[in-house]
Amino acid sequence: MYNLTIRLETEKDYRTVEELTREAFWNVYKPGADEHYYVHQMRKHPDFIPELAFVLELDGKIVGNIMYTKAWLEDENGKRKEIISFGPLCVAPEYQRQKFGKMLIEHSFEVARKMGYDVNINFGNPGNYVSRGFVSCKKKNVSFVVDGNFPTALLVCELVPNTLDGKKWMYIPSTAADCCEDTASVEAFDTTFLPKEKKWMPSQEEFYIYSHSSVVR
Ligand SMILES: CC(C)(COP(=O)(O)OP(=O)(O)OC[C@H]1O[C@@H](n2cnc3c(N)ncnc32)[C@H](O)[C@@H]1OP(=O)(O)O)[C@@H](O)C(=O)NCCC(=O)NCCS
Repeated sequence: MYNLTIRLETEKDYRTVEELTREAFWNVYKPGADEHYYVHQMRKHPDFIPELAFVLELDGKIVGNIMYTKAWLEDENGKRKEIISFGPLCVAPEYQRQKFGKMLIEHSFEVARKMGYDVNINFGNPGNYVSRGFVSCKKKNVSFVVDGNFPTALLVCELVPNTLDGKKWMYIPSTAADCCEDTASVEAFDTTFLPKEKKWMPSQEEFYIYSHSSVVR
């Protein structure tokens, strides 16, 4: 049996968390990955929420982590409500599908609730989240600010039930992930890690379908 701990990330964990993130995301959503660069940059972004950056340790070894930024919902009168959005969330490949991801989500949601947050929205593979209480953004009338659509991958989880009922909302994400558009910096950062082969995996096509489609009915 493991000695399992979920605790806040400290500065000493930064590189370990970046290595873990790179391992977990490598080739999953595209050949290679940029999430480790995102993690490296997001801690400096004003929308980053350090009180919700958790690592999961098994016998003192970090095998999972979750990080959050602020995001916003705007109603039809232009009034904004601050919410949270997690990502990256990851578990080391050899420890996946053993409920550690679930534990990280549940633990951080509990803390977020105590901080006064009532809604989490994130963009991801529905298969990872629908059993955790996430629903399609269409069901909560939350459209994406960029195009007004209801993306298949845009998933809403109310930390306090029925918070969003009865209104039309627009989702405004943080700009924290924009750093990944600077592909030269992503590549330069990646060279500070051990070489790893970039290749195609079917999960890339699966996520392309989710992230380029919308719920219309
Ligand atoms: C996604 C990830 C964080 C999930 O963590 P995990 O510890 O592996 O997941 P859990 O064991 O808690 O189960 C998560 C859910 O995934 C689904 N799931 C379980 N096994 C699955 C499988 N073989 N294939 C697809 N989905 C599966 C289920 O919905 C499961 O919940 P349930 O069993 O309670 O119904 C982890 O797999 C990971 O790091 N993946 C790579 C990085 C990534 O994609 N991160 C998420 C995007 S930010």
